[in-house]
Amino acid sequence: MIYLDNAATSWPKPEIVYQTMDKFLRESGGNPGRGGHSLALAAEKVVEETRLLVARLINAPAKDRVVFTFNCTDSLNLALKGLLSPGDHVITSQIGHNSLVRPLRKLEERGVEVTRLAPQTNSWVVSIKDLKEALTKRTKLVVVTHASNVNGIVQPIEEYGEIVRRHGCIFMVDAAQTAGTFPIDVQAGNIDLIAFSGHKGLFGPPGTGVLYLSERVELDTLREGGTGSHSESEEQPAELPKKYESGTLNTVGIAGLGAGLGYIFEHGIERVRLHEQALVTRLLGGLSRITGITIYKPKNVLNQVPIVSFNLKGWQPAEVGAVLDQSFDIKVRAGLHCAAAAHKTFGTYPHGTVRIGLSYLNTPDDIEAAIDALGKIAKSPIEMPQGSLEPTRSKSKKH
Ligand code: ALA
Repeated sequence: MIYLDNAATSWPKPEIVYQTMDKFLRESGGNPGRGGHSLALAAEKVVEETRLLVARLINAPAKDRVVFTFNCTDSLNLALKGLLSPGDHVITSQIGHNSLVRPLRKLEERGVEVTRLAPQTNSWVVSIKDLKEALTKRTKLVVVTHASNVNGIVQPIEEYGEIVRRHGCIFMVDAAQTAGTFPIDVQAGNIDLIAFSGHKGLFGPPGTGVLYLSERVELDTLREGGTGSHSESEEQPAELPKKYESGTLNTVGIAGLGAGLGYIFEHGIERVRLHEQALVTRLLGGLSRITGITIYKPKNVLNQVPIVSFNLKGWQPAEVGAVLDQSFDIKVRAGLHCAAAAHKTFGTYPHGTVRIGLSYLNTPDDIEAAIDALGKIAKSPIEMPQGSLEPTRSKSKKH
């Protein structure tokens, strides 16, 4: 089997992630902060060590400003709904995932004004000029997607951050596709809020997410409950990170995330990035030699995470995905990738694209196998049923 759907979730995980989670549940599986016994303390130690690793990853000034959530969507909802009130103005880009698009739409129904900036056609990057022109006196937040989950194009967040800070607004980044793959520095980048999941580039398990918030940000809570602190009070504690971490944490997931982060630090983000870039270059080279393929990338890509979207002439993306899976045992994601707005922006709505998402654990052989399979699919004959304008595939076709 060849797994090329790492933009959805990374798989496999490094061996140490499996081992750490197994060991954690057997030896440290108490409830952190709930009791002074050794098993609760062991769990707390692992959670706080992971928190420190996350803080190091993004250069957060203090680990207590790193909040564990259950996924990136959870983090984005907490940040957006905890921050924005009716009458506030927020600026975003038109390339967001539904995890950003839908909470913003909900907030819009409640009276928040949303401006959606289109990226430039030559680069698919939102221009500084457009951002500056969109800022008003009422703008409270600028929230951008660091890298599109549809085509991997990276937006220049450092440049945005400087402008947003100068304007006195809050700057937030959705780093779902860049955490672990691309260097991020919240202090140098003037980032006030950053959200990401633990199960993609960081090699943690599903059910792990992170929200960092700077001292400039005060969020309302979306959930209140047990925190293991101030148990005598009916009020939610004010101190971070407990204020936002009500209920039992996904401790085993956080243990796995810690192991994934340890693996990334051991190998180095730069090495991860160079390996992934080399795979992308190889993939793009191979795909471009296949007749009838359209790759969705602008001419002057400055930065790209290892996500490549394409279509084959005469084929629906979902058909290509199914044939890759069933005939070649190659796993990709086809369709709209929970990002219809991005596909509309890139001109690939409503059918979407076939998407390959690579990880540090993919090899050149994986890439060659995908190129070879797609070459064979592209050469297979198209059947045109009588009276139909749409080409279809024979269901029995095997490759
Ligand atoms: N956001 C994930 C993806 O793009 C699930 O596939």
